[in-house]
Amino acid sequence: MRMRKVKRIAIIGGGNLGHALARGWVKAGLLKAKNVHVTRRHPDRLATLKGEGFSVGTDNQKAVLDADCIILAVQPGQLEDVLSEIASVVDVDSHTIISVITGVTMDRIASRLPDGVALVRAMPNTAVETMTSMTCLAVDTHRSGVEVAESLFDVVGITLVIDEEMMTPATALCACGIAFFLRTIRAAAQGGTEIGFHADEALLLAAQTARGAADLILQNGAHPESEIDRVTTPRGCTIAGLNELEHRGFSSAMIRGILTSAARAQELG
Ligand SMILES: NC(=O)c1ccc[n+]([C@@H]2O[C@H](COP(=O)([O-])OP(=O)(O)OC[C@H]3O[C@@H](n4cnc5c(N)ncnc54)[C@H](OP(=O)(O)O)[C@@H]3O)[C@@H](O)[C@H]2O)c1
Repeated sequence: MRMRKVKRIAIIGGGNLGHALARGWVKAGLLKAKNVHVTRRHPDRLATLKGEGFSVGTDNQKAVLDADCIILAVQPGQLEDVLSEIASVVDVDSHTIISVITGVTMDRIASRLPDGVALVRAMPNTAVETMTSMTCLAVDTHRSGVEVAESLFDVVGITLVIDEEMMTPATALCACGIAFFLRTIRAAAQGGTEIGFHADEALLLAAQTARGAADLILQNGAHPESEIDRVTTPRGCTIAGLNELEHRGFSSAMIRGILTSAARAQELG
């Protein structure tokens, strides 16, 4: 089957993630802003996007009719209304539907749309806006829509296709996880300020150090512990601080945060 090239996208639900996706695709050069149509019920809250050249509005049917790829980006409890509204204008021959909604299965969405429509679930994070998202994708048994989804999310970060049953764990590790790493950077910066840096300098130092740690893994293929071994000299300051973090439950707290988010994500939808 020939891959459908995406020329116009409709983002149904211009909230936090909808904004980030719209900006990410334009920043990545995938689409011009005028070819990204973002909807929400309160159009006044789309004024900034409108000022940036995006098409905005409240009419979901019009957005779908104008697009070849539809991103469902509303809250789980808002989805039924959206599906009722758009089902009659979804075209199986031209549309690919991508849901980024937490906890709602492809079966549930497919049951409300015309038979055979290309449908994908995606779990990105807000770093799509800086083209550094980790996005997990789940596809149906026909894998319809997977190339379209990869073409959209590869340009705003890294994608990994996983089984749909792993989408809830992916939500915890990637979508919630970005907040955990942001809080980690914030905490490091607070420590930096206490030991003498101005707040803005401390944040820069902490964030760039976090980026370096991530790149050692992503670019060099290193394991975190082998990189830690390289910076922990015997009786040195790094191992002293690291062990203090662990005495205070650092790894345990992060693990428990991931588990708690996964349990909560399971309850959504
Ligand atoms: N935020 C993240 O980092 C993230 C990451 C991965 C997945 N997700 C998932 O992505 C979805 C959106 O998350 P979010 O954080 O962007 O939530 P959000 O900020 O609450 O955005 C949801 C948007 O949907 C709009 N909406 C509600 N009903 C609508 C309708 N009938 N037609 C058009 N728009 C409608 C709302 O605007 P109005 O009230 O003005 O209509 C709101 O702007 C959620 O399901 C979430 O689980 C989020």
